[in-house]
Amino acid sequence: MCGIVGYIGKKGAYNILIKGLKRLEYRGYDSAGVAMINSNGALNVYKTKGKVCELENYVKDKDITGNIGIAHTRWATHGEPSSQNAHPHYSESRNLAIIHNGIIENYADLKKKLQEKGVHFRSDTDTEVLVQLIEYIQLQKKLDLLTAVQYALREVIGAYAIALLDKTNPNQIIAARKQSPLVVGIGKDEFFLGSDASPIVEYTDKVVYLEDGAIAVMRLGEELKIVNILNHKMDTPVQTIDINLGQIEKGGFPHFMLKEIFEQPECITNCMRGRVNTSANNVTLSAVIDYKKQLVNAKRFIIVACGTSWHAGLIGKQILESLCRKPVDVEYASEFRYRNPVLTKDDVVIAISQSGETADTLAAVNMAKEKGAFIYGICNAIGSSIPRSTDTGSYIHVGPEIGVASTKAFTGQVTVLTMLALALANVMGTIEEKKYLEIVKELSLIPDKMKEVLNLNDKIESLSRAFTYAHNFLYLGRGFSYPVALEGALKLKEISYIHAEGYPAAEMKHGPIALIDSDMPVVVVATHNALYEKVISNIQEIKARNARVIALVTKGDKTISKIADQVIELPATIECLEPLLSTIPLQLLAYHIAVCKGKNVDQPRNLAKSVTVE
Ligand code: M6R
Repeated sequence: MCGIVGYIGKKGAYNILIKGLKRLEYRGYDSAGVAMINSNGALNVYKTKGKVCELENYVKDKDITGNIGIAHTRWATHGEPSSQNAHPHYSESRNLAIIHNGIIENYADLKKKLQEKGVHFRSDTDTEVLVQLIEYIQLQKKLDLLTAVQYALREVIGAYAIALLDKTNPNQIIAARKQSPLVVGIGKDEFFLGSDASPIVEYTDKVVYLEDGAIAVMRLGEELKIVNILNHKMDTPVQTIDINLGQIEKGGFPHFMLKEIFEQPECITNCMRGRVNTSANNVTLSAVIDYKKQLVNAKRFIIVACGTSWHAGLIGKQILESLCRKPVDVEYASEFRYRNPVLTKDDVVIAISQSGETADTLAAVNMAKEKGAFIYGICNAIGSSIPRSTDTGSYIHVGPEIGVASTKAFTGQVTVLTMLALALANVMGTIEEKKYLEIVKELSLIPDKMKEVLNLNDKIESLSRAFTYAHNFLYLGRGFSYPVALEGALKLKEISYIHAEGYPAAEMKHGPIALIDSDMPVVVVATHNALYEKVISNIQEIKARNARVIALVTKGDKTISKIADQVIELPATIECLEPLLSTIPLQLLAYHIAVCKGKNVDQPRNLAKSVTVE
């Protein structure tokens, strides 16, 4: 996720900005940039692809003077990571410079209109559209910058946190936010700006968290002014914050993994934004519109992935098969690439990868491409190698995932696969209208239901203490819950180093039951769905062998609570969407057990976030 820093005061801006960018590095980014106005009134913009240290090298022989500036770390959304697409972006006249977090959804329409008026663009970003729009309005209507910003933001659909410098008014920074956070720090004769408080707390503990729709005007020698787009004054309190830097980088959470688990409702909302339309009750994916022919005519889908992404693929198989009535295979990318599989131009290969850099998945994509298959990518890291190698795809838009154990990427991948199945089934006519509408509606409710599940955190934390002794765990589930069991087991083994296996519950009798005794805790995903009764029988069998059972059940379940030792109640939802809820308690269980055992949760031994070697 992008990071914003700003400064206006008596000190040199550059060092404050660079230090601030470094404080925001934890958010993940692919490029960085600064803009400063020097004492001669020149507005200098410097930006590079890569890390903040590369920006520092780049500016070594440049003019970095000035007491006012803005700076940015970019996580690409529109346009590949490059110095050209990095922020800040100049307006056409180079009088304005902007930085932006968020997505301008109607950027293509706005860009077209501006181009028709003769405005030239230097980047592929939605952000440049915004600064060009502001300047265009400013010049056309002869407005001051604040009013032009207010006019421009009325035309914008999307989410943003922005900060602007104006060369012709070198004593002010204008910032605005909608659905993307922005914090103003108030010092003595100086203001600071940050996408969170981490770049600010070193200098002042007086901050204003801007409310949605707020526009802040920071002028030297004046009080902070906050108005909305209609120029109505907004009264936002100045708060005194008491937090240490380590805490805020993780947003107050002790580990990135826990932060990312808790981000899931917001991530899934972002993932569905512009795709799931709740008022029209439909799902659109641009890839399904643009490549309808290839997808509709596919004889078969082959999902290739590794680890957690492979588990998401197993859920994708069930939902694609059930809604689109096409055969779907799910393959470990590492096996697939070396197997000389039968592939034709009628096959669609779906490559799933959070990082977009996993060597085996990338090699599988390239091999499938050579054999003529059509390739669809489902990735998180924008502009990474896999999306660049595919024919089309859908980003999951859950923001950078820093904890090595994948959490929010999994639910993002499952959400995209669900949207893909719905959109495709709808165009192919393989789903009844009633069922389609029911799933779309329920999908839009998932973020709120995820919040309910997250309320179980305290309960899961306290029950996890009783399980730190275990050397083995078994996870069971059936149907859509089987991949959830696999994912729960993977989470536990990755971060707590407890051996754990996931199994389809009915397979237990064919071997694993021999392992079950009082030392083997068993986690059973036993939500109220088609195979519920059968799973109850499995729980009885486990209890008959004295194992302790932690059961995930649907709220209101009266039967399993009488048999299982621990019951975790989840909100009811449609069966194919259950993994989006039932995975969360298993993430939390693994997390708390690992914390109790004193393990390095975010960077478990021997594991890398991005496996770029085979
Ligand atoms: O970046 P990718 O999704 O391609 O990564 C695949 C696996 O390496 C990854 O999911 C791994 O299994 C995670 N550490 C699981 O938490």
